[in-house]
Amino acid sequence: ADTYPLHFELTPNDAARADAERETMLSDPGFGKYFTDHMVSIEWTTEGGWHDAAVLPYGPLTLDPAASVFHYAQEIFEGIKAYAHEDGSVWTFRPEANARRFARSAARLALPELSAEDFIESLKQIVRVDKGWVPTSDETSLYLRPFMIATESFLGVRAAHKVGYYVIASPAGAYFTGGVTPVSIWLSENFSRAGKGGTGAAKTGGNYAASLLPQEEAYAHGCSQVLFLDSVDTTYIEELGGMNVVLVYKDGTIVTPESDSILEGITRDSILQLAADRGHKVERRRVSLDEWKTGVESGDIVEVFACGTAAVVVPIAELKGEGFSIVSPVAGPDSLTLSLRAELTDIQYGRRADPHGWLTRL
Ligand code: PLP
Ligand code: COI
Repeated sequence: ADTYPLHFELTPNDAARADAERETMLSDPGFGKYFTDHMVSIEWTTEGGWHDAAVLPYGPLTLDPAASVFHYAQEIFEGIKAYAHEDGSVWTFRPEANARRFARSAARLALPELSAEDFIESLKQIVRVDKGWVPTSDETSLYLRPFMIATESFLGVRAAHKVGYYVIASPAGAYFTGGVTPVSIWLSENFSRAGKGGTGAAKTGGNYAASLLPQEEAYAHGCSQVLFLDSVDTTYIEELGGMNVVLVYKDGTIVTPESDSILEGITRDSILQLAADRGHKVERRRVSLDEWKTGVESGDIVEVFACGTAAVVVPIAELKGEGFSIVSPVAGPDSLTLSLRAELTDIQYGRRADPHGWLTRL
């Protein structure tokens, strides 16, 4: 801890791509396909703490095949975006919240804590060198992916004594190919994402590994995401593979699952705050699948949406499972879903005042 704050060294990147090549990628970035010219790297050892903070050319990491991340998946990550404003400045959204969640994930995975100050500085460092990679067209951003892995070569099962932290960056358009078009989701009845006392609340690769097979099932049923239920009672809604879920009632009440095995989304928290600012009643509590089904069928639930950094806010058109389908009402232009989405993105892109002080300049 006595090395804080870290001093970042910059290594020149002679292979940085030409403007023309970059512009081609920025014109249709998709999601997670292209990566910028640089990456941040910081090392940690039990004796030395965090050290050797550097901005390096983007490229392969050299790891020993015995590095424990390959065997025991001691790994965590974050997802946060950088937004270009009209005047050319670049901002990010609630990075302290991501830093806090990263620290909680680190604690659960027995990884060292990186201070919020160093976490935020690492985002500033990558954006400073790769500013030209922040796309400027509508609803695009630079997706930042900080992650931490156990790099010690040791096959004993214990927390590693050597760890690496990295930040890579990827220009991003819409997460789903259809943009803000409503999505269909598949109810996973055979698989859970996380168990009681497990790692569900941490942003760790293993949770996503567990979601891949049910995600394949979702695709096979024409759905773009999978919905998980709680693993104890298989009764309560948890979340999607990569997003939180929110239900809107006819009387304006907004309900979202509370559970200690889901990821506490920063998008969700922000959307709920914006809704509360408008006077909506917000409930964070257990929500059964039955409540969703009967609520939509009776017309008490008037909108259902998913939210997360990558996909922002997307209406859920339909929940499908073995032998059933619940079609949600269509989220029209006047829906709360789309109006909260617009309010959130207006703040993120600097088109509207930021009353909660959520933006940080990078
Ligand atoms: N739940 C899961 C499993 C996720 O991967 C994500 C995305 O990061 C979220 C929820 C939403 O979190 P956030 O809004 O902080 O991106
Ligand atoms: C994010 O929204 O940042 C995520 O991590 C979701 C991921 C599945 C792309």
